[in-house]
Amino acid sequence: MRHLLDIRDLSLEEIDQLLDRAEDIIENPKKYSECMHGKKLATLFFEPSTRTRLSFEAAMMELGGNVLGFSEAKSSSAAKGESVADTVRTVSCYADIIAMRHPREGAPTAAAQVCPVPIINAGDGGHNHPTQTLTDLLTIRREKGRLNQLVIGFCGDLKFGRTVHSLIHAMMRYEDIRFVFISPKELRVPDYVLETLQKHGIGYTEVEKLEDVIGTLDVLYMTRVQRERFFNEEEYLRLKDSYVLDLEKMELARKDLAVLHPLPRVNEISVKVDSDPRACYFRQVLYGKFVREALLMKLLEVEV
Ligand code: NCD
Repeated sequence: MRHLLDIRDLSLEEIDQLLDRAEDIIENPKKYSECMHGKKLATLFFEPSTRTRLSFEAAMMELGGNVLGFSEAKSSSAAKGESVADTVRTVSCYADIIAMRHPREGAPTAAAQVCPVPIINAGDGGHNHPTQTLTDLLTIRREKGRLNQLVIGFCGDLKFGRTVHSLIHAMMRYEDIRFVFISPKELRVPDYVLETLQKHGIGYTEVEKLEDVIGTLDVLYMTRVQRERFFNEEEYLRLKDSYVLDLEKMELARKDLAVLHPLPRVNEISVKVDSDPRACYFRQVLYGKFVREALLMKLLEVEV
């Protein structure tokens, strides 16, 4: 039995297979529409979510399976003081697979120790978010036609942004990738992530101004400042509008740039950018559902 707790739990070959499967589902949805008949997915969300939870649920439904779960800690027995371990032990009696989001780093990993069914980390605090990374990889592959030979810029809250950490860990394994990190000093990529890049001799630069580097990028990954992870509101208010991608900045970018964002967006991308063909973030939402279908099939060892 396999869990997905960290994107590095998957080999590059397995990631390729998942992306290929997702593309086959896009092309031939009917072929897959009954393959999860009789299977149940539980979504245990101790933190807010729109895309991740609903795309998991839509994915299971499109494969002919069923879903159950909760979308906030206060409607579960966590509110009475139940441990995460006891919650997943319980839910494993009702469901074949669990997708879990939790504000505490490592909570899904701890839960996996006692859980007899596969657990998928759907975001743990400011740490990891591997299924968003699968979504991002499928988006980059479809938009750019490759996952190697890319200059990829990450902009915004690179400290608390879990999608950033997971995507860096995935992209660093492809050939000829260069990273450009654009953030205020206070929101830099954590040292443990930078150390992994250094250890593998992978090039990166850190800058504060998006205008200075946007013209060099193949991919720009925008992120929201993660208000819920700040210790004080004043600091959040000071940093929240550090970056706004607008039409003026898009003028400086390459004609074949791909702009991604895991969403939700707050202010960091002007809505005027949405109609630019380089804005990929709503296509990215759609790809997230297909890649989660592929992942559910893999972890439940379902074939068609
Ligand atoms: C992200 C998350 O939850 O980490 N959202 C998502 O899953 N698509 C990004 C965010 O909340 O900023």
